[in-house]
Amino acid sequence: MCGIVGILGNHEVAPQLVEALKRLEYRGYDSAGIATVNDAGTLDRRRAVGKLVNLSDRLVHEPLTGRAGIGHTRWATHGPATEGNAHPHRHGPVAVVHNGIIENFRDLRADLAQAGITPQTDTDTETVALLTGHHMAQGMCPVEAARATLARLHGAFALAFLFDGDGDLMIAARKGSPLAVGHGEGEMFVGSDAIALAPFTDRITYLEDGDHAIITRAGVEIYDAQGRRANRDMVRIDVGATAIDKGGYRHFMAKEIAEQPAVLGDVLNHYVKNGRIVLPESVSFADVDRVLLVGCGTAHLAGHVAKYWFEQIAGLPCDIDIASEFRYREPPLSDRSWAIFVSQSGETADTLAALHYAQGKVAKTLGVVNVGTSAIARESDIALPTLAGIEVCVASSKAFTCQLAVLAVLALKAAADRGRIDAAALAAHLDDLRAIPGLLNQALAVADDCRALAGWLSEAQDVLYLGRGALYPVALEGALKLKELSYIHAEGYASGELKHGPIALIDRNVPVVVLAPRDTLFEKTVSNMQEVMARHGKVLLISDADGITEAGEGTRATLTMPMGGGAFQPILYAVPMQYLAYYTAVAKGTDVDQPRNLAKSVTVE
Ligand code: M6R
Repeated sequence: MCGIVGILGNHEVAPQLVEALKRLEYRGYDSAGIATVNDAGTLDRRRAVGKLVNLSDRLVHEPLTGRAGIGHTRWATHGPATEGNAHPHRHGPVAVVHNGIIENFRDLRADLAQAGITPQTDTDTETVALLTGHHMAQGMCPVEAARATLARLHGAFALAFLFDGDGDLMIAARKGSPLAVGHGEGEMFVGSDAIALAPFTDRITYLEDGDHAIITRAGVEIYDAQGRRANRDMVRIDVGATAIDKGGYRHFMAKEIAEQPAVLGDVLNHYVKNGRIVLPESVSFADVDRVLLVGCGTAHLAGHVAKYWFEQIAGLPCDIDIASEFRYREPPLSDRSWAIFVSQSGETADTLAALHYAQGKVAKTLGVVNVGTSAIARESDIALPTLAGIEVCVASSKAFTCQLAVLAVLALKAAADRGRIDAAALAAHLDDLRAIPGLLNQALAVADDCRALAGWLSEAQDVLYLGRGALYPVALEGALKLKELSYIHAEGYASGELKHGPIALIDRNVPVVVLAPRDTLFEKTVSNMQEVMARHGKVLLISDADGITEAGEGTRATLTMPMGGGAFQPILYAVPMQYLAYYTAVAKGTDVDQPRNLAKSVTVE
């Protein structure tokens, strides 16, 4: 979490820093701040609590000049969102911005106290500025001082340092948290990701773990964790693919939901050609004895859906795990198993740590990742892009359905490699999958009905979501979406589990959303729905036309989904989950694209 940026430029840097921070706001929006060195060499800073727009307003009345600067957008870890805790942090001639957690900051504070230096903030980051300023006061030059500080830091960090009196020096360092260096014409940049730097340059060098960089307008010198000069490749990014706009929609989320037919079409065109699955040659499940799917939040739920496909279609045992639990549980892993890490950002700290745990213990690691330049994509044995395009809304929508599409292709490949399905069955499954983009297009038509239901849902204190089989994790996803967007308490349950406790919650004030396509589990799910209605529960039934005809009577409302999609129907049923949460949030007036307390890229544990 937190986004950092730094610029040694040829123009006034404050507006550029704000522009880059706008692209990093998905990493947190508790506060924002910038520091610049003006043409007289003076370091100064401005900070503001809340969203970036508050900092922009402040800069109108209290401008900062200078062509060198650093900036930060915060997701609070240590200390509340106050101006004092906002970055950049400064001590003497040093200003610092930081993404990550300095785990030994208490020890460092104790050492600083012995030198008579007292922290002014609640943050871990301030110790970096205090220590570096202290080193400079003892006579070290900025580079020596920053190096001496870096040598003492434990934890995860991406850091950028700026110095009073030197408008042509910036020092950047990373360990655990991502950091990109951008190359301009007589200008240099650093940023938490390349997207932040896209307005300025398409030439990017990614720092590796443990690297630090000494940056001037003339270029960059990179040093590795051992302090040796290091060569890191420069890559060109597709700036066109970094365009961020709402395309006429009121919110990014509405745009991203509506994009799903198109992006799912792109995914399937990429992985299925002429009726054949197209994957790297090394993706063969013939000798694999078990698959492990790991992720967080929505990405974890994509893995949960895929578990049903791997087990039912491919007959391959499949475990799913939440990355934050997996990494510390020390599960024994078979060297014939494959571990698949699912992540939109590819930077989620727990998922990345889980990947590190699995490396060397399993036969292969796969990353199913949206951001192709991310750590999980780079560090997995095989990276499979989910091709959703940039997802701006903190709540995941198109990234989820694209993850499902890639995992569906993998499950079918596993089924074919293991001889569980013959060519005809594979072709039938692929036909079902290829039909998904068109069916998604039809599914988007539930938007109006979801909008009409939002008034009802927005008045609820609690909402339950029920599903069976592969629709159970979709119910979990529906509850997660509603919680994060509308702040209404919601839970997802396996329909059959309801009577083992949660049914006690049912009364006429608790909306119960039931996902029940007319499939082999339909009768069972409908029985559970009847149990809810017998206790005056108000049901929203989501099914296809046959299902609604058969079981719609007595419900509070129904949503009609298209028929088709075979085993891959969960992808379709994600759409009403998204729209119900979206329109309920709109009805409640919450911040749809940037819900409170959240960040899109969770780079701390
Ligand atoms: O970038 P990742 O896919 O690894 O992120 C995982 C979760 O943080 C993410 O899916 C989160 O649950 C979303 N806000 C859900 O909408």
